[in-house]
Amino acid sequence: MDKTIRVFAPATVANVACGFDIMGFAIGNPGDEVVMQLCEKPGLARPGVVIKRIIGDEGKLPLNPDKNTVSIVVKQLLEQVQSDYGVEITLYKNMPLGSGLGSSAASAVAGLYAVNELLLRYEPEKAIRKREDLLPFAMEGERLACGSAHADNVAPALLGGFVLVRSYDPLDVIRIPTPEGLFATVIHPHVEVQTRDARSILRKRISLEDATIQWGNTAGLIAGLWQGDFELIGRSMQDVIIEPIRSLLIPGFDSVKASAMNAGALGCGISGSGPSIFALSKSQEVAEEVGRKMQNTFGALNIDSDLYISGINQQGPRIVNEQ
Ligand code: HSE
Repeated sequence: MDKTIRVFAPATVANVACGFDIMGFAIGNPGDEVVMQLCEKPGLARPGVVIKRIIGDEGKLPLNPDKNTVSIVVKQLLEQVQSDYGVEITLYKNMPLGSGLGSSAASAVAGLYAVNELLLRYEPEKAIRKREDLLPFAMEGERLACGSAHADNVAPALLGGFVLVRSYDPLDVIRIPTPEGLFATVIHPHVEVQTRDARSILRKRISLEDATIQWGNTAGLIAGLWQGDFELIGRSMQDVIIEPIRSLLIPGFDSVKASAMNAGALGCGISGSGPSIFALSKSQEVAEEVGRKMQNTFGALNIDSDLYISGINQQGPRIVNEQ
């Protein structure tokens, strides 16, 4: 039997304005897909991990399995569980690199979910039973991609919904409920910002005054999501620490944010490390109008953009089809 599986994992919005490195949510689309085939090579102790093809990356990502996020995390998992199998991977990159949409996280999560599903079927005693236990592997992929093993993209890509990373050491990840009717608008201007660079420009020390404002907002955001209080969510989506610095890397940021707010968004901020910008709204209709206005503003600045509107993706990775 051809032991092949195809898995989709979603793009994510990390930080959610005030929650740098500790908050994120998954969106409906775009997302990356991995087609993975389990391989047996009798006589070899470990058949290894091979990347057959990458589609949609414009040749930017390495095919060398020791240099690509998706293969490295899959390899680490297979090694840790001492699997007798190897895999061949085809990666479909459906979102640009350096977009602020959690591109590396989506690939890593798709790969991990795919390999674990194959293990569940063909080597079940070695499969990981709890989805959360795949998270440390995915975080290692982030370390490779940008030098920091943050979890605010990989956790929502893996678990779906809104996720809070309460602590990194020990890792403590909490899923936060999504109020009914909440919609996300995400716009990706065609400008590239590498996460590694967007992290290196941040201040390492902040004032007590800023910290107080920021943790008030973070707590307010969590309370607002839990209580389904849209106004509280909106007024908590303020970032006094990261946005003032990173927004300088995004041409037109202030005007695009103003268009989103004028069109009725609850709040608006940088998606992850940018340049994508996201807004939350209390209906699909408003989210669409917000998107139109944001795109017009970028258009007036001669900046092309891609627009994504969806509810909050509660599912995380999913099997697309099987052969
Ligand atoms: N929390 C991360 C950052 C997300 O803002 O740098 C980007 O991957």
